[in-house]
Amino acid sequence: MRFSRVTCSVLPLLSCLYSVASAAWTVPKEYALTASPDGHFFQKSDRSPFFWQGDTAWLLFHRLNFTEAEMYLSDRASKGFTIVLAVGLTQIGIASPNRAGDLPFVNQDPTKPNEAYWAYIDSIAELAWSYGIRIALVPCWGQYIHDSAGNPSVINGTTAYTFGKFIGDRYPYLPKILVADTNPLWENKTAVIDDFAAGGVIPQYKHQDWRPIYDDLANGIVAGERQVTSNRAWNPLMTIHPTNLWFNGLPIALASAQIGDRDWLTMDACQSGHTDFPPDGPIPWWNARRPWEPVGLMYATGQTTSGKKRPAVDNEAHYENRYDDGKSAYFYWNASDVRTGTWQSVSPVFLGRSMDLIEA
Ligand SMILES: *[C@@H]1O[C@H](CO)[C@@H](O)[C@H](O)[C@H]1NC(C)=O
Ligand SMILES: *[C@@H]1O[C@H](CO)[C@@H](O)[C@H](O)[C@H]1NC(C)=O
Ligand SMILES: *[C@@H]1O[C@H](CO)[C@@H](O)[C@H](O)[C@H]1NC(C)=O
Ligand SMILES: *[C@@H]1O[C@H](CO)[C@@H](O)[C@H](O)[C@H]1NC(C)=O
Repeated sequence: MRFSRVTCSVLPLLSCLYSVASAAWTVPKEYALTASPDGHFFQKSDRSPFFWQGDTAWLLFHRLNFTEAEMYLSDRASKGFTIVLAVGLTQIGIASPNRAGDLPFVNQDPTKPNEAYWAYIDSIAELAWSYGIRIALVPCWGQYIHDSAGNPSVINGTTAYTFGKFIGDRYPYLPKILVADTNPLWENKTAVIDDFAAGGVIPQYKHQDWRPIYDDLANGIVAGERQVTSNRAWNPLMTIHPTNLWFNGLPIALASAQIGDRDWLTMDACQSGHTDFPPDGPIPWWNARRPWEPVGLMYATGQTTSGKKRPAVDNEAHYENRYDDGKSAYFYWNASDVRTGTWQSVSPVFLGRSMDLIEA
């Protein structure tokens, strides 16, 4: 384990000096994934194709102990999963300890990682790798940038770059998915919902633009990875996890539509979600029974945007055994629904149908 000293000094009296350990496990170069030469697919460092068969285990690092993580990962490996999406600073709270009782940060300050918490994440990432499973890391959930109403939080203009650099330095080569359950362009969702309840009138709310914070986080990650890999040209696979909320006048929920002009966005993403809306949803490109629609749209966007071809993934589809729309009054998605959706998201037959929709 290597130790490096970090000095921070906000005010002379509050200045602090502490040690940050670098990762207990050094991520091997072979971990890296990049886009294939035509921009559409994933490839490994030896240029062989990589098939992204992902599972979302958002709370893997937070809720499971080592034995449970091993049981879960060995099960996923036996079923052919190649990647697991998991979160560093999770949605269950900055003040909520992991199974060993460790918190992510000292004094809830995202620029002061608590070594024990991240060392445990290192050990699970290493364990996953021993099963041939990569981790796609969500450094922090969306609520730490802003809440539903649009109030800022702890990952902000002061802290995002430093936190990003810590993540990049410690977890080079892991694909990164910036935040979740939110979009970089936002309206006051609380107010929109209140208005719906009060009669369905939707006034135009002021759009908030959180993209500068995303940029800080992403630029910190890229800087950290370039430093630790001594590769000044390295760009990790990185995307955002847009949610399906659709507000008037804002781009649809594809990473490329919301923040597509950034060089750090090296992968496109959508969320086909957990809800069936027969026959059609209120929001375009959002139906858990038709995941090929947003996936096909991303494929088409990548094809037509010069210099911006990117591999695309559906970051969050229906979960096996989760109720439709999360409501127990409805049916739940079963294993064959999930398999069908997976197939539809990669099958040329279905992606071709999506092209027809785009052209129509
Ligand atoms: C994890 O928790 C289970 C109980 O759920 C326990 O049996 C097991 O020993 C624990 N493993 C570790 C490494 O603490
Ligand atoms: C950013 O978050 C930190 C806590 O992590 C807080 O102390 C600081 O006031 C916030 N800064 C801004 C500009 O909101
Ligand atoms: C969002 O809307 C809620 C409810 O109308 C309101 O109380 C709150 O102040 C708004 N937040 C912002 C950041 O404007
Ligand atoms: C799974 O659910 C679908 C409806 O979503 C149903 O048509 C199918 O029969 C179910 N399959 C199994 C094996 O239960």
